[in-house]
Amino acid sequence: MSLISIEHLRKEYPDVTPLLDVSAEIEEGDVIAVIGPSGTGKSTLLRCLNQLEKPTSGRVVLNGEVITDPGCDLSSVRRTMGMVFQSFNLFQNLNIIDNVTYVPVHLLKMPKKQAYKEGMQLLARVGLAGKAESFPEELSGGQKQRAAIARAIAMKPRVLLLDEPTSALDPTMIREIFDRPAKEKTRRFIHRLKSMELEITGPNPDYPEILRKMEEFRRESMISADELRHIILVFEELVMQNIMGVLRPGNEGFPLRMKLDYSEADTSASMELTYGGSAYNPLENGDEISLTIVRKMVSRIEYEYAGENRIRALLGA
Ligand SMILES: Nc1ncnc2c1ncn2[C@@H]1O[C@H](COP(=O)(O)OP(=O)(O)OP(=O)(O)O)[C@@H](O)[C@H]1O
Ligand SMILES: [Mg+2]
Repeated sequence: MSLISIEHLRKEYPDVTPLLDVSAEIEEGDVIAVIGPSGTGKSTLLRCLNQLEKPTSGRVVLNGEVITDPGCDLSSVRRTMGMVFQSFNLFQNLNIIDNVTYVPVHLLKMPKKQAYKEGMQLLARVGLAGKAESFPEELSGGQKQRAAIARAIAMKPRVLLLDEPTSALDPTMIREIFDRPAKEKTRRFIHRLKSMELEITGPNPDYPEILRKMEEFRRESMISADELRHIILVFEELVMQNIMGVLRPGNEGFPLRMKLDYSEADTSASMELTYGGSAYNPLENGDEISLTIVRKMVSRIEYEYAGENRIRALLGA
């Protein structure tokens, strides 16, 4: 039995449905991160998990108990499942150590002395030992966030829900988290990848239209004018000067496709060209001057033929 089973969770608001159909099994000891753009429902999911929000349909089973059932004891759910809110929600009228010990002392009936000792250890762990007597308004955003994390851990919950646990921390701490994304969609989100595709279907393409599309993409993707010039130059030299000349209508060379990926995170662009017909490698057989220009503009370029011709070029960083 999983510690938490999320079964077909759905949450509808009048204007949006942030959770369509979410299912997941979470085991003891699992560390699960939910990432995604602003407004996609991350906070909603957490609020539906600890029953601050009633899901429209679906079930949440915590340690064998169906906590989405109307009769469920919510205060025991909250004790099992601690939460650090996106806005921290510290008690403004209590100093930091009292924030941390309030619930253990008043709700969990822990002796004051023990709560204080454990609370101070927790504050030391999050680097706030010196701020125990300060009030929330005297703390920076990152310090408030760490105080809120200490307060949640002080309740010794079996499950800890953290909404944006690193939002107020500095980027060097966050970097480590995102080094090995498993899914393409995650990678695209982290590297802030933007893409455009275009297709040339015959020997007389509307070149001004192609340039207009690229310019539009530049504006959407925060590509600099210089970077776009490089991209266009590579495209012109490879496609217009070298490849178009060997593609003949009817020999299955067309369509030629160009896919451009631009990473806003590291300002690099990659271009992929595919076209049909028999194998033709412009990097070997193309015009020397064109190729010299292309090689100056790219940090890597490869050609392969696998049923169709494919060129991948990496521009920039
Ligand atoms: N109480 C509410 N009533 C109506 N709509 C809501 C409510 N709470 C959230 N929403 C909407 O649900 C969607 C998801 O919001 P949510 O706060 O879960 O996003 P998020 O992924 O946590 O975003 P962020 O990264 O900005 O924190 C948004 O479109 C939001 O406007
Ligand atoms: Mg949120």
